[in-house]
Amino acid sequence: MGKLLYSGKAKQMWSTDDPEQLRVVYLDQATMLNGKRKDHFAGKGAAANDISTLVFEYLIQQGIPTHFIKHLSEKEELVKKCDMIRLEFVTRNIVAGHFASRFGLKEGTPLAQPVEETFYKSDELDDPFANESDAIAIGACTADEYQKCWALARQCNVLLTKLFAKAGMKLVDFKLEFGKLSDGSLVLADEFSPDNCRLWDLDTNAHLDKDVFRKNLADITTTYDEVYQRLQKVVTEED
Ligand code: ADP
Ligand code: TMP
Repeated sequence: MGKLLYSGKAKQMWSTDDPEQLRVVYLDQATMLNGKRKDHFAGKGAAANDISTLVFEYLIQQGIPTHFIKHLSEKEELVKKCDMIRLEFVTRNIVAGHFASRFGLKEGTPLAQPVEETFYKSDELDDPFANESDAIAIGACTADEYQKCWALARQCNVLLTKLFAKAGMKLVDFKLEFGKLSDGSLVLADEFSPDNCRLWDLDTNAHLDKDVFRKNLADITTTYDEVYQRLQKVVTEED
């Protein structure tokens, strides 16, 4: 069964018999305002796990190094244990969310080139913005790690923009996290689900991500299930 090592806003991390592996449990809950609002949604954990598994398997197939080992059950996956880089790497392709409010821009405005923003992962400090020199100065990563993480994030953006477009969705923005394995190599870690990205329907711009919860627009589990069905159809057709 292992020991509960960490209980976060969306997942729990459990130890396993192998010190280099963790069992991740996706929770049936959604939070906003860094956990200040929290609601229960049956089936949400399984849907996020399904989507993240599909995306990680796709990225691995395309040559991206990741922590993912395997899908274990509805809500569980097995991953390689990482020493996490305490940064959130946010890429934006279309104006939305905080970028829209910060710069007074209209949501939906395309960006001439992707915007890359890094935040220090700290609930107490509300995840402050951190540029490269900030990240190095506070010891979150080295210059080399910062550059390598962004190089991987750029590759993921190209691959995932195409994948989601085939599934009838615009990849508006997304957050990635990276970690180091015991041999020091950098891998994409955490998850990729509509909890950590914005997805809009290609034709209608309908929200297909956590904004349905943030803005009270639709049922979050039904929305995530729809994203999974669309992605599954694309990868099945590609096989
Ligand atoms: P949060 O910590 O923001 O509330 P989660 O509920 O998703 O987020 O918790 C998962 C935690 O596990 C995150 O802090 C994430 O950085 C960390 N994590 C993700 N993948 C790994 C991994 N492979 N090894 C160790 N920690 C990981
Ligand atoms: P933002 O517009 O709120 O800054 O969010 C940009 C993207 O990053 C969006 O897809 C949601 C994701 N994100 C997280 O996954 N976790 C976070 O803590 C934040 C602030 C954003």
